Amino acid sequence: MAGLLELYPPGSALDADGMLVIGGCRASDLADEFGTPVMVVAEGALRARAREYVDGLAARWPRSRVVFASKAFPATAVQRVMVEEGVGLDVAGGGEILTALKAGADPASLVLHGNAKTDEEIAMAAEHGIGLVVVDNANDVDRLEATGRAHDVLVRVIPGVEADTHAHVLTGHEGSKFGLAPPAAAELIHRIENTPRLNMRGVHVHVGSQILDVEPFAASVAPVAALGEFEVYDLGGGLGARYTYDDHPPSVDAYLDALIGAAREHLPASAEVIIEPGRSMVASTGTTVYRVVTIKRGSVTFVAVDGGMGDNLEVALFDQRFEAGIADRLDGSESELVTLVGRHCESGDVLVDGVRLADPRVGDLVAVPATGAYCHTMANNYNGARRIPVVFASGGEARLVVRRETWADLLGRDVD
Ligand code: LLP
Repeated sequence: MAGLLELYPPGSALDADGMLVIGGCRASDLADEFGTPVMVVAEGALRARAREYVDGLAARWPRSRVVFASKAFPATAVQRVMVEEGVGLDVAGGGEILTALKAGADPASLVLHGNAKTDEEIAMAAEHGIGLVVVDNANDVDRLEATGRAHDVLVRVIPGVEADTHAHVLTGHEGSKFGLAPPAAAELIHRIENTPRLNMRGVHVHVGSQILDVEPFAASVAPVAALGEFEVYDLGGGLGARYTYDDHPPSVDAYLDALIGAAREHLPASAEVIIEPGRSMVASTGTTVYRVVTIKRGSVTFVAVDGGMGDNLEVALFDQRFEAGIADRLDGSESELVTLVGRHCESGDVLVDGVRLADPRVGDLVAVPATGAYCHTMANNYNGARRIPVVFASGGEARLVVRRETWADLLGRDVD
């Protein structure tokens, strides 16, 4: 189990009896108080990561902004932390606009995305005075014109860069459903420049997610620079997070060195640079704590917990590998190779396919690290599961920021 502790949020430790402590809170106390499964976020680690990004970017390109890709963890409380740490918010859709505004974000600091923005969402952008609308297609422009209001816009460009990541989270390649290839982007930019009330501020590029090397980010800058000189270049997100022992994502510093190195080479020095990290901002700050419900020993040992693909869809969607440990025996010597599975009616409902757990028993707590990105937001009600709570842990204090769904919530949308 050497190294497992490193995968939990920075600052995690083991108590004298071996119990995992996150944000100063014992995993067992968190389970007792909030039930299981529970998503625990180390608030200090979340704030520190936000500051690392803000300081790192400001040091390299002073006219710049870090904008958190809310989709990675669109809980109001997480967005509020970002606002408090001086980070703007990227919002994809009406729901994220609402939670961002509730979190206290200045509407002018919001960047609205979406490849199929509805009339309602465009109306919300107009009504709330959202800072930048990232135009994905010509129909976005029709809709923005139809509001009769002024809008500052960026145009999303496909850079033709293929990063080494899962095909489902690749976006910078030719044929992507997001944005426009350079010739079509140039045409739309020309139209926007000639449209009263639309203010053509700049261009946007995003090459994909869970990218574990820096080259694709650097390579995406020249294709957008080739479209002309603008006030704003939004260079997207996509830096990978550490999920397993074998993952070694570039540091924020290494990522920014490469990205801003390319910006210095290709972009006007007076331009504003925006980046939109999501996953790498939050993944390592979250841990999901489950309780073991049953153990079945045969040719494979299945350890089944009280959650699964209802609260972590990453495995089923992208084959993402996670690690796991028994909360009070992370470094136990007697370990057994097991398949950690969920409670859902699907064979693909696996949390970790092949992981060593120390003498697993029914009733044990299992802590899966690096669940802070995209798990909360992709949660679902499969098999009538109630979506799990989010707890912030900091300095030994635990604070519920999203409650568990209730049975009443599940019935609440029925109309008869
Ligand atoms: N900017 C734009 C325009 C994006 O589409 C995304 C992510 C980001 C920034 C942030 O990328 P990140 O830094 O998080 O890699 N549902 C998938 C993830 C899809 C990512 C979508 N776009 C999942 O469950 O893992």
